[in-house]
Amino acid sequence: MKIGDLKGLFGLLMVNMQMLRAKLKVLDVSYGNGTANTALVYHHGKLLALSEADKPYAVKVLEDGDLQTLGMLDYDKRLQHSFTAHPKVDPYTGEMFTFGYAHTPPYITYRVISKDGFMHDPVPITVSDPIMMHDFAITENYAIFMDLPLYFRPKEMVKENKLIFTFDDTKKARFGILPRYAKNEAQMKWFELPNCFIFHNANAWEEEDEVVLITCRLDKPDLDMVNGAVKEKLENFSNELYEMRFNLKTGLASQKRLSASAVDFPRVNECYTGRKQRYVYGTILDSIAKVTGIIKFDLHAEPDEEKTKLEVGGNVRGIFDLGPGRFGSEAVFVPREPGTSSEEDVGYLIFFSHDEKTGKSSVNVIDAKTMSADPVAVVELPHRVPYGFHAFFVSEEQLEEQAKL
Ligand SMILES: [Fe+2]
Repeated sequence: MKIGDLKGLFGLLMVNMQMLRAKLKVLDVSYGNGTANTALVYHHGKLLALSEADKPYAVKVLEDGDLQTLGMLDYDKRLQHSFTAHPKVDPYTGEMFTFGYAHTPPYITYRVISKDGFMHDPVPITVSDPIMMHDFAITENYAIFMDLPLYFRPKEMVKENKLIFTFDDTKKARFGILPRYAKNEAQMKWFELPNCFIFHNANAWEEEDEVVLITCRLDKPDLDMVNGAVKEKLENFSNELYEMRFNLKTGLASQKRLSASAVDFPRVNECYTGRKQRYVYGTILDSIAKVTGIIKFDLHAEPDEEKTKLEVGGNVRGIFDLGPGRFGSEAVFVPREPGTSSEEDVGYLIFFSHDEKTGKSSVNVIDAKTMSADPVAVVELPHRVPYGFHAFFVSEEQLEEQAKL
């Protein structure tokens, strides 16, 4: 099932069919027929293709660059629920932290996977309704869950010909912080912030009594269909970089806007996942959420409150504009040297771009430190690359390791 197809009576029919198939055991719940097209992660020697409605698929990059599907990964049958497209790998411990969401309780299930690929027992997380939770975050000691009011409501899909997920702008945004090795949710601390939705977090870390989350916050999202995919319509709402702070001692939360206009697909130097860091790279979105450029934020600098559009100055360290008629994808940060010994922003941003006038696609490599308009490399591709969602860089060591599979 594609989420975009889940509209109106047809959508209901599709959902009921799927549930019936699961009941009759014709299908392993809804797993095994996902799209695996949202994001990739590398863990325990395997490159995993992910989509949040299904389990991961291990894929292997062959010597000629082709991809071979090795198969669905269920961690020796220990994984019995869906698996987010945005798990987090701790760069220090090598563990992977993940979760899945479902439309029957437990709506959220949290999991820890050891460095050597063992999936620990499920930790059910209680939220009041079935929600879409696209991303989460980790710090050195905590996992951060987002209970945001985008609800799974098949009835509204039929009544109002809406998507199967409905946003309720009367509800608060809730953020749950749990010690990351907790065996159950007893120690979860929930915080409230004004209503919003979030697709993507940039990173999170701890500062004394506080947990800091850097995220792309959507105010009053109106999710609808564009070209058969769920796209955000950005005319009437904002999608901006925010800093959120959760004080574990006082139980209070606060937030601060960091960008003047629409930004999403935030990426950081992943050697700093869960640790305090300085630079965030995002995509600049136009009114129908197409990527027109890549932007670099400096979290040590204050945002320029006067600005109403994205320009260099304040906390914006650089913008790489794709130019008229050219649109791109998420930019992956690739450090020149792995680890935290060199400066955080010494490295490259790599992304796809497509020229709608000439029909040509390319891979672009730019200097993340300087954000120079002069790219390090542009590799023209023999085929169109769709705009898509996320991207992932596989290092030479990872290629060698997975070649043994
Ligand atoms: Fe995503």
